[in-house]
Amino acid sequence: MTSTHHTQTRRPLACIILAAGKGTRMKSDLPKVLHKVAGRSMVGHVVAAASALEPERITVVVGPGMEDVAAEVAPHATVVQERQLGTADAVMAARPLVEGFEGDVLVVYGDTPLVTPATLSRMIEARNASGDPAVVVLGMRPDDPGAYGRLIQGADGGLDAIVEYLDATEPQRAVTLCNAGLMAFDGRRLFALLDAIGNDNAKGEFYLTDAVAVARAAGHACRVVEASAEEVVGVNSRAELAAVERLMQGRLRSAAMAGGATLADPETVYFSHDTRLGRDVTVGQNVVFGPGVEIGDRVEIRPFCHLEEVRVADGALIGPYARLRPGADIGPDVHIGNFVEVKNARIDKGAKVNHLTYIGDASVGAKANIGAGTITCNYDGFFKSRTEIGAGAFIGSNSALVAPVTIGAGAIVGAGSVITRDVPADALTVERSKQSVHEGWAAGFRTRRAAEKAAKPK
Ligand code: UD1
Ligand code: MG
Repeated sequence: MTSTHHTQTRRPLACIILAAGKGTRMKSDLPKVLHKVAGRSMVGHVVAAASALEPERITVVVGPGMEDVAAEVAPHATVVQERQLGTADAVMAARPLVEGFEGDVLVVYGDTPLVTPATLSRMIEARNASGDPAVVVLGMRPDDPGAYGRLIQGADGGLDAIVEYLDATEPQRAVTLCNAGLMAFDGRRLFALLDAIGNDNAKGEFYLTDAVAVARAAGHACRVVEASAEEVVGVNSRAELAAVERLMQGRLRSAAMAGGATLADPETVYFSHDTRLGRDVTVGQNVVFGPGVEIGDRVEIRPFCHLEEVRVADGALIGPYARLRPGADIGPDVHIGNFVEVKNARIDKGAKVNHLTYIGDASVGAKANIGAGTITCNYDGFFKSRTEIGAGAFIGSNSALVAPVTIGAGAIVGAGSVITRDVPADALTVERSKQSVHEGWAAGFRTRRAAEKAAKPK
């Protein structure tokens, strides 16, 4: 759902993503940027947005011991910032990988997962526009400017300085234009600016934001590009993570509808960043898409379904109340009904699995009919085994198919059977004790018992 917006004549681009912060306020054992939004880590979203600009390189700055962040962003390079001395120091940590780069350098924070390629492109365009600014800063006007850095503009609308909240005077704090945290630099001037940044401020940190004042003092221009505050909202707490998730879901719902899907009640449908829906898909209320779901055309997903790592082919009907787990491969025109769970199984065209069933580690042939309450017994406590059901087979209700087992094409399994041996094509198999019938017995029983009860003293 991302698109590429990059100017054809642009200079080469390098991206530095800052992610060394521990995210103390998340109160988590997981580095902050690995927390997920719509099924993908925050830093994964930022890498994806940056990648859409086709940079020559992406370098992620991590803290000591953050091997899991490095694994998440691989094959992009990571550098370790040994001590967190501030955002300018974090960019310095990337110096060995970026020094001498002649193009533009975009610095992005790893905890702003909603930023779009379009906004990043506007920053790069401004960097290359007239005046040749040394620094372009992304600005925003949040409802509550809180503790954000304030953008101090000159009379010409250019940027003169960024003042951190703790260091700002009262008139500066009254400024509503805030630093969203994203900055684009001319790579040829970047490290000279950083070399001049000190740490004589309220936090005793090396602020990347001071690059603006340093550039102005050296006679370079600096510019602001504005974005909506919603797009660049940062995540510092679980509550902010939830707020960002809500915003992301809003985007994904809009994109699904724009792409030709009907959502009966959009607010109740939850997508992953990578959910793919065909045309004329209908999604009922309270449906959750985990990662890795691909839905074909004209599929109807009725209310209360959960899907994760599955493919559903054209014309299938899913739910209500179906659970499709990883590896479910649902063929065209298949019906999966209520309280049916499918895992690691291929269901071929036109087959029906309509009620109260578990199909796991199995294949179900075309037009097979799986009766209510069928269970593939795929696990013996040690190993998983497969169940193969041929095309056109009919599995009677409440059958247990004990894997490994094969039911041939067109075979019928009598209801209530426990099937442990293979069944040939077109055979009938029944596994249950012989039914006995005693004519008139019930009527006699009732007469006898009623007489006994009447004779009993009260
Ligand atoms: C920063 C900006 C502020 C802006 C705000 C927007 C500075 C000095 N201030 O403040 O103007 O309004 O973001 O959200 O830049 N990081 C490192 N190493 C460090 C310090 C930070 O990698 O030594 C990373 C953090 O992981 C985070 C990002 O840099 O991803 C920003 O750091 P943070 O401490 O959140 O800066 P703010 O105080 O929010
Ligand atoms: Mg922050």
